[in-house]
Amino acid sequence: MSSRRKFLKASVITGAAAVTGSKIFALPKKIIKPELNNPIVISTWDFGKPANAAAWEVLKNGGKALNAVEAGVRIPEKGHSNQSVGYGGLPDRDGFVTLDACIMDHQYNCGSVMCLENIMHPISVARMVMEKTPHVILTGQGALEFALANGFKKENLLTEESKKDWQEWLKTSHYQPEVNVENKKAISKNDPMPGGIKNHDTIGMLAIDSLGNLSGACTTSGLAYKMHGRVGDSPVIGAGLYVDNEIGAATATGVGEEVIRIVGSHLIVELMRQGLSPEDACKAGVQRIIKISPEKSKNIQVGFLAINKKGEFGAYCLQKGFTYAVKNDKEETMYTAKSFY
Ligand code: GLY
Repeated sequence: MSSRRKFLKASVITGAAAVTGSKIFALPKKIIKPELNNPIVISTWDFGKPANAAAWEVLKNGGKALNAVEAGVRIPEKGHSNQSVGYGGLPDRDGFVTLDACIMDHQYNCGSVMCLENIMHPISVARMVMEKTPHVILTGQGALEFALANGFKKENLLTEESKKDWQEWLKTSHYQPEVNVENKKAISKNDPMPGGIKNHDTIGMLAIDSLGNLSGACTTSGLAYKMHGRVGDSPVIGAGLYVDNEIGAATATGVGEEVIRIVGSHLIVELMRQGLSPEDACKAGVQRIIKISPEKSKNIQVGFLAINKKGEFGAYCLQKGFTYAVKNDKEETMYTAKSFY
């Protein structure tokens, strides 16, 4: 081969490599996001599944855990098919739907509303209390006035179905907190949400985002036919929900009075700090309730759900039938918690 031909061949090869090289090293058009740090969201009961799906939309795009838990629990708040959270919740003994909710982020910021009426999304009011006021808790009329002043609409939350159930209850007015168990009854054949069975109450949701930060939210209409003005554990920071970004987070469901007595969610986070797994910490919380109220504990439900900083999760409850939902990039799963009884 002449030296000129060798030169031409080499030029062609070099040129091809350069073209290939320019493709390989060309800057991508889209900015590559940092790798997700295994976000995860977990929440109580069957309605946790559609709630998690909404939270996941935030988490999978690198959104904040705080935004995820708010978006997540708004789903059952507006869903009329459950009678224990938000719109359609069963009223108190006087026929008022009163809502309790709280939210907590990874920096110990927290907000709560108690006994709030006529507002579809108490969780968003709780977040506004956290972000726009120097306070943690607003209650009743004050919480309502704050919500209305901040753009929330007044709405009737008592559905025909819940009104009918309440009127039926009035015939005896026998007050007995319900033990939520598996497959209790279908609420409605046309239920638009999975989880249309009466085996749920409060939604507690815990999430870790792509930065590894934790947040939690908890919202409920509380115990059906409670005394007017009664507040349960759900909006009580430390009882219905607690988040410690160094350790993990916990939330509670069931009869709130028993959870408040032991400041349940805070207890569980502290037990995780001492090295217990999320499930063992939840179990220890349930055992504490049994120790304090051995007889009562046989006829009520309390369930705890927890997650640690590594993303390990677990739950435990008094009575069989407490389910919880988990969503991350690998699974979308319903679990049934182990129970003491
Ligand atoms: N855990 C809900 C309530 O006791 O109101």
